[in-house]
Amino acid sequence: MPKAHTPLDVTAVRKDFPILEQVIGDKPLVYLDNAATGQKPEAVIQAIDNYYRTSNANVHRGIHELGRRATEAYEGARERMARFINADSAEVIWTRGTSESINLVAASWGLANLREGDEIVLTTMEHHSNLVPWQLIAERTGAVLRYVGMDDQERLRMEELEEVLNEKTRIASIVHISNALGTINPVEEIARMVHQVGALLMVDGAQAAPHIKVDVRALGADFYALSGHKMFGPTGIGVLWGRRELLDAMPPYQGGGEMIRVVKKEGSTFADVPHKFEAGTPNIAGTVGIAAATDYLDDLGFAALATHEHEVVKYAVERLGEIPGVRIFGPRDHMERAGVVSFLVDGAHAHDISTILDSEGIAIRAGHHCAQLVMDHCGTSATARASFAFYNTLEEVDRLVAAIQSVKRIFA
Ligand code: ALA
Repeated sequence: MPKAHTPLDVTAVRKDFPILEQVIGDKPLVYLDNAATGQKPEAVIQAIDNYYRTSNANVHRGIHELGRRATEAYEGARERMARFINADSAEVIWTRGTSESINLVAASWGLANLREGDEIVLTTMEHHSNLVPWQLIAERTGAVLRYVGMDDQERLRMEELEEVLNEKTRIASIVHISNALGTINPVEEIARMVHQVGALLMVDGAQAAPHIKVDVRALGADFYALSGHKMFGPTGIGVLWGRRELLDAMPPYQGGGEMIRVVKKEGSTFADVPHKFEAGTPNIAGTVGIAAATDYLDDLGFAALATHEHEVVKYAVERLGEIPGVRIFGPRDHMERAGVVSFLVDGAHAHDISTILDSEGIAIRAGHHCAQLVMDHCGTSATARASFAFYNTLEEVDRLVAAIQSVKRIFA
């Protein structure tokens, strides 16, 4: 386990990630698809392994030693996550990930609160996970969707947000860091603007949690969603954080075991939060894994991690920007961007770029990145996306640049 050190000792840190040692074909792996999912440190892998070897049982049920251990692991992980995001543990709801967290709010809070003509504010920077749940709920309630656009550097048009917000706005749901562009949005300012018109703010934090210290109280949002697998924990586990009074007032999202108080033929009463929203046997090992990931990140220290990442991303933007025919999307100031460099090479389709890079052992993502409104704004159907984590290096950027030169030669 690393201890907070500045500057980050990347050589040492990389040894914590067994998968990064691989050779693909005859080339050392360069993993630049971190926005899709992060790799897992040994500490996370071991925590999950240890849980299944020593403590596996169902939670809140068996009155036996393993049942106690599993429940302690599950509720202990919740307390750990609460500390990680500066929340109260009753406000931390375990979900399958960011998509489920947003669907939970849209379905539960949305159905209970939205009426015909109410307005939901979204942006064209959103991942489909933060668009489709609201479109579905708007259809069911008669609420109206309003969209805020982006400027020529793919940053939110804050003056447009100001114009769109009004007394009919009930909720705004906005991404913290864009998965397709890396743009960092000013959430605290957005929260102040949204609250001024008496509306709520939900934040999609899937891409923020791996890169910056998330403090839900300091941000001032009302709901915040994140995913375990993006922040170097396992897949299938995530968090919905919400303000306690909002969660208390919301109806259950799914019915089943664990979420009830009393069940009668005529109907049921429900458990208090957070359990009201956790029907069925949860992903217990997932909570153990995500808790281990929070320990890992905190031990590493977000200050050191972010300093290193900014250096790598800045270098990537500069080097790619020097290549004629390469077009880079997103903010020019690297401090306004985290983790992601989306680009195109003249004459080459994004999928061709990705295929050629793959033959060089370099993993990136090509496509619309589940953000078709971003692609519309950029005037393309797809981009190539290199996405970075703290374990990436300047040398890996050099490998990326050399491989893009090959792409250019092939498509010249
Ligand atoms: N949302 C993930 C990505 O951006 C899957 O790749």
